[in-house]
Amino acid sequence: EIPVIEMNDGHRIPQLGLGVWQDNDDEASAAVQCALAAGYRLVDTASAYQNEAGVGAGVRASGIDRAEVFVTTKIWNADQGHQAAKDALHASLDRLKMDYVDLLLIHWPAPWRELYVDTWRALIELRQQGLARSIGVSNFRPAELQRLYAETHQLPAVNQIELHPWLQQGELRTANAALGVRTQAWSPLGQGKVLLDPQIADLAAKYGREPAQIILRWHVQNGVLVIPKSSNPERIRANAQVFDFTLDEDDMAALAELDRGERIGPDPDHFG
Ligand code: A2P
Repeated sequence: EIPVIEMNDGHRIPQLGLGVWQDNDDEASAAVQCALAAGYRLVDTASAYQNEAGVGAGVRASGIDRAEVFVTTKIWNADQGHQAAKDALHASLDRLKMDYVDLLLIHWPAPWRELYVDTWRALIELRQQGLARSIGVSNFRPAELQRLYAETHQLPAVNQIELHPWLQQGELRTANAALGVRTQAWSPLGQGKVLLDPQIADLAAKYGREPAQIILRWHVQNGVLVIPKSSNPERIRANAQVFDFTLDEDDMAALAELDRGERIGPDPDHFG
């Protein structure tokens, strides 16, 4: 059973869900159906992934009520700005064939464009209209979160950031927590690269688990939300089996030592 966590707006979010970046529509639909059958109740897509239609089709084909599934999508960089962001969510909902999303994120801050506060105001309106139950951001830094709050008195429910054992984001996690913003990890497995770390392999052998399960369990014990991506049915199932064992304190401390500030994805200062 995947735990559910309360956000600062009172809504609840599953701690673990399915990522679908780089899946096409058919792959996304199949992965969503497999994940929902395996007990997942969250799917994380984005308009930029170009698979929202597949995600929507997968949810409908699963036989599970739409209301039981937590669907996240994101406003792409080119769609920032007040009216553009609203139009973009309507287009996403058309592709998903849904009448709301559970969580709508600003995908990247693109700070030099000076549009993220206007975009955030649009998200606040979309939430008031019931088209997004919760709203949040992705790849924001503490100063950007503080600016949203200073200008709108509304904080994101979630800040989704690149986070894995090689990029542990200590300061940003602390800042999110201090503001009551939930940290959600994208590429929680470092796009699969961190699975090859020899210390992860040692822990996998010690606990009789897969490397991916060790990493996902580390996130979970840190109170982080995770959305591992897989299109393989066995790996989709394995990635959710992380709530039936505990890493001991020494091993959590050893994992903390793997931090090397190494991004695998883009730097938010320059991307978007
Ligand atoms: P695949 O889709 O073939 O399973 P991240 O979520 O950090 O971006 O990592 C996703 C990458 O890790 C994908 O390449 C995915 O490949 C791979 N992956 C996901 N789960 C596992 C797992 N349990 N074991 C090995 N590789 C995995």
